[in-house]
Amino acid sequence: MKDENMKNNGLFDLFIEELEDMFSAEKQIIEGLPEMINHATQEELKEALEAHLKETKNQAKRIEEIFSILGSERKSIECKAMQGLISEAKEMMGSRKPSATLDAGIIAAAQKIEHYEIASYGTLKSFAQHLSLEKSITDLIQENLDEEGGANKKLTKIADGTFFSSGINKEAAKSR
Ligand SMILES: [Fe+2]
Repeated sequence: MKDENMKNNGLFDLFIEELEDMFSAEKQIIEGLPEMINHATQEELKEALEAHLKETKNQAKRIEEIFSILGSERKSIECKAMQGLISEAKEMMGSRKPSATLDAGIIAAAQKIEHYEIASYGTLKSFAQHLSLEKSITDLIQENLDEEGGANKKLTKIADGTFFSSGINKEAAKSR
């Protein structure tokens, strides 16, 4: 059977590793987002990040739910990509005063994080389907994927609808 072959070929193990990677990523985001919220000046941006912090806490819980459905042994994996993305965000924030430019930098950093997560959950969903895992598992992955997509779109809207159309480029140029 095709699915059995994939299990034997290690796709299931890879799925578990990717899921652990995302669990680590979500935990790092829960720790890292408050600093980004504190540095943001624009109210709409602060609110979007706060809303996403709440979502992120639920996303970590959904991953734990998947592990309990699978009943598989947990591995300890540190998501190094998220460590890098968050440390770059911290570096960017640490060297700047609160301003529209810093807000634009925070949006960029948050969107890099979202894109990593969208790619990862997209992959996990596809793996789960190939492995014919329970629908409840793909549904939980899909919920996380939808929230990441929603958060990313909201950030684009904040950047396009407020900053960039109301002179962030001018402000950014002034503060150089
Ligand atoms: Fe997330």
